[in-house]
Amino acid sequence: MSLLSKRHFLRLLDFTPSEISSLLKLSAELKAAKKNGTEKASLQGKNIALIFEKDSTRTRCSFEVAAYDQGAKVTYLGPSGSQIGHKESMKDTARVLGRMYDGIQYRGFGQDKVEILAQYAGVPVWNGLTNEFHPTQLLADLLTMQEHLPGQPLKGMRLAYLGDTRNNMGNSLLEAAALCGLDLRLVAPSACWPEAELVATCQHLAKENGGNITLTEDIATGVKDADFLYTDVWVSMGEPKEVWKERINLLRPYQVNSAMLALTGNPQVKFLHCLPAFHDDQTTLGKQMAEEYGLQGGMEVTDEVFESSYSVVFDQAENRLHTIKAVMVATLGND
Ligand code: CP
Ligand code: NVA
Repeated sequence: MSLLSKRHFLRLLDFTPSEISSLLKLSAELKAAKKNGTEKASLQGKNIALIFEKDSTRTRCSFEVAAYDQGAKVTYLGPSGSQIGHKESMKDTARVLGRMYDGIQYRGFGQDKVEILAQYAGVPVWNGLTNEFHPTQLLADLLTMQEHLPGQPLKGMRLAYLGDTRNNMGNSLLEAAALCGLDLRLVAPSACWPEAELVATCQHLAKENGGNITLTEDIATGVKDADFLYTDVWVSMGEPKEVWKERINLLRPYQVNSAMLALTGNPQVKFLHCLPAFHDDQTTLGKQMAEEYGLQGGMEVTDEVFESSYSVVFDQAENRLHTIKAVMVATLGND
């Protein structure tokens, strides 16, 4: 039987530390197999539905390429062009797609949506990002951390996450730290800290698993001796334009820049970002933000850091493919 046969993948806390570590091991094995041409297809004959109510590059491409590599076929259902949401409920959609597909990926808004899908589909459902969680991203992040500190356990790795820690990435990093025993510091103004209840649950679990979770507004304390600095966009998909101004003004001091890298005191520190990132004005929105808020050199991260040798963001992006493949193989693979 496959590792997590027929299970859903909705958030990290649904799994044990050993299940997460098995998924990471499988990801590394699948990555090596693809690179050396020995990959075995274990999803032949499977059909996968990919529901995207929000845009995506990495997640969509990872699910598609992982499915093709493993012999499965996919149907992409984008923000328009199907009945989902505006004319048909998630509950009904789940019961229809569950009759046709072997697995369903969902990216969209509330976590409640992906939970309903999982409850009624009767086939594995994978969360490709909701407002609350982004669990497949965390698998890629953890694999990247392992690769960049080879031979070291995840337990005790020092990760400082700066910026909007109250979003899907902040929540998912908390859950990852809880299960893997990371030394996680959320560094942000307290108005941008995650829900206290989730923080308390994860702090408790982190302690049990040999880790530690701290929340601080103080940058110097938060980044001291960090192995990794992580940031994400300051305003997430689906948030209204009205929040930009206040959020940017709150988070401006938490921009990841060269001075902050130096503040870690660790010359080997690595920079992580789930991407996409506002680090230059080469995109429509980036240009608009740069002009409106005077952030020409980057927003949550400077272009200098993003393009530097400290940055491992494209390793992270590649690892989306291998880790998402592991999730599909583990939950749906033929033995
Ligand atoms: N990191 C991430 O989820 O990227 P996409 O939005 O491009 O899928
Ligand atoms: N917090 C970001 C993550 C993107 C991968 C968002 O939800 O837009």
